[in-house]
Amino acid sequence: MRMTTLVQLICSILALWSTYVVNAEDDYKYYTWTVTYETSSPLGVSQKVILINGQFPGPRLDLVTNNNVILNLINKLDEPFLLTWNGIKQRKNSWQDGVLGTNCPIPPNSNYTYKFQTKDQIGSYTYFPSTGMHKAAGGFGALNVYARSVIPVPYAKPAGDFSLLVGDWYVAGHKALQRTLDSGKSLRSPDGLLINGQAQGTFSGDQGKTYMFRISNMGLSTSINFRIQGHQMKLVEVEGSHVLQAMYDSLDIHVGQSVSILVTLNQPSKDYYIVASTRFTKPVLTVTGVLHYSNSHTPVSGPVPPAPSGQMHWSMQQARTYRWNLTSNAARPNPQGSFHYGKIAVSRTIVLANSAPVISGKQRYAVNRVSYVNDETPLKLADYFNIPGVYDTNVLQSPPSDGPTYLATSVLLSSHHEFLEIIFQNDEKTTQSWHLDGYDFWVVGFGSKKWTPNNRKAYNLVDALTRHTTQVYPNSWTAILVSLDNQGMWNVRSAMWARQYLGQQFYLRVFDPVKHLAIEYDIPTNALLCGKAAGRHP
Ligand SMILES: *[C@@H]1O[C@H](CO)[C@@H](O)[C@H](O)[C@H]1NC(C)=O
Ligand SMILES: *[C@@H]1O[C@H](CO)[C@@H](O)[C@H](O)[C@H]1NC(C)=O
Repeated sequence: MRMTTLVQLICSILALWSTYVVNAEDDYKYYTWTVTYETSSPLGVSQKVILINGQFPGPRLDLVTNNNVILNLINKLDEPFLLTWNGIKQRKNSWQDGVLGTNCPIPPNSNYTYKFQTKDQIGSYTYFPSTGMHKAAGGFGALNVYARSVIPVPYAKPAGDFSLLVGDWYVAGHKALQRTLDSGKSLRSPDGLLINGQAQGTFSGDQGKTYMFRISNMGLSTSINFRIQGHQMKLVEVEGSHVLQAMYDSLDIHVGQSVSILVTLNQPSKDYYIVASTRFTKPVLTVTGVLHYSNSHTPVSGPVPPAPSGQMHWSMQQARTYRWNLTSNAARPNPQGSFHYGKIAVSRTIVLANSAPVISGKQRYAVNRVSYVNDETPLKLADYFNIPGVYDTNVLQSPPSDGPTYLATSVLLSSHHEFLEIIFQNDEKTTQSWHLDGYDFWVVGFGSKKWTPNNRKAYNLVDALTRHTTQVYPNSWTAILVSLDNQGMWNVRSAMWARQYLGQQFYLRVFDPVKHLAIEYDIPTNALLCGKAAGRHP
């Protein structure tokens, strides 16, 4: 072989190889997950727990930006089941969101293959059951989206990477909790806190090295404070936003939220407490784990580090310190700050007020006087098959007004490319946590009492971070901005599970009159059909 031909050959092999490497990151990842019950005693009392492939928590999904996930979920429970991918934006693809407004639940002894992409995303996320009160029994897990090899991240690669799913837990079991809620009663306080399904847990690392901890609040209703004895935590990422990195002694994490921190094992060799405790509750529940130095022979000792003495005000102040690093990128090469969200004209302001009405003698939860009820036909399918009468687009009115509360399958209409200001107004005495599917949003302000347009002056219009779930403090408001660039039918819900189960949710229908696959994908060929859509042909 002549030298030039050899060089040409090598070059073309290299070219092929690099195409392969690029494609590898748009790659397809195949999973088969089977959901079952098992009797287990995470808090010492035997109860039914939901496992995925025999594990609780379920398998950790380690993905890369732009991966395509093909995940066949087999339901071996005695009830219909769905998983939702918390924080995965499902671009153009609310068909795969896995909530009852978009998907038929998977019947027992049946399966559904989810097909979705982690398009332009990076960060720590989770998945969990969206049906009934299944989330109270497990069935959840961590979902990490790592950067593509060509995309830099604003911190050195940690020596290891731990996912900590922390949350309140009830020994009653999900069916008993559901019966309580169905009978019109609210839930009593939880029985304990768990870390990764246990009332304990050990995380080991080498002295001198730095580790990432991805912490998510998987609980049903309770905010937590997280801290590590003798160590500071460097906050680096919040639900896909790279933040201005700063050191914290402890972090408040509200229901449905995730944060990524770096911890350097720079202390004398011994074991240290990892602590999570409930926030704003009486009594305070605490769970401890162990940070084990691999060269340590000294077990944990000393007092468990206390929670901050500051309460709501402290927590709100801390939340205001979370800011976008404008010069660092997220999943894409352009810096986060190249999107000047503060300069975009708001097309509409929507005020959403939560409440806890009693309707016909039963406890419900509501937003703007509407308590949501699921229809047996997913709203997305009703739209696709033009089935009238499934949902109601007139009942949810902003601004909220006083008067009776209605039960309805409420949908808020909006147009593709609107830029919304949403005010979550909480006139109740409990902390709220609101989640929006299909999007992340800028959290531009927190304040106490009633929001007024005057509060806009204090908005952070420069370096607020984007996230998918925000807390709203008692007798306070939280303001967000969101760019409606993702057509679909999107669930807006309380992340506090009993509240969303009893009606504190609705759907945001983001619609473009132009029908095009570049705007929204077509119905999946394997879509399950139920309710009034049963027996139709996609
Ligand atoms: C159920 O699993 C089979 C493969 O075992 C697959 O061919 C089929 O598409 C799945 N059903 C749905 C509705 O996704
Ligand atoms: C912000 O991001 C830049 C670019 O990635 C990085 O060099 C810098 O350290 C970051 N600053 C902070 C405070 O996190």
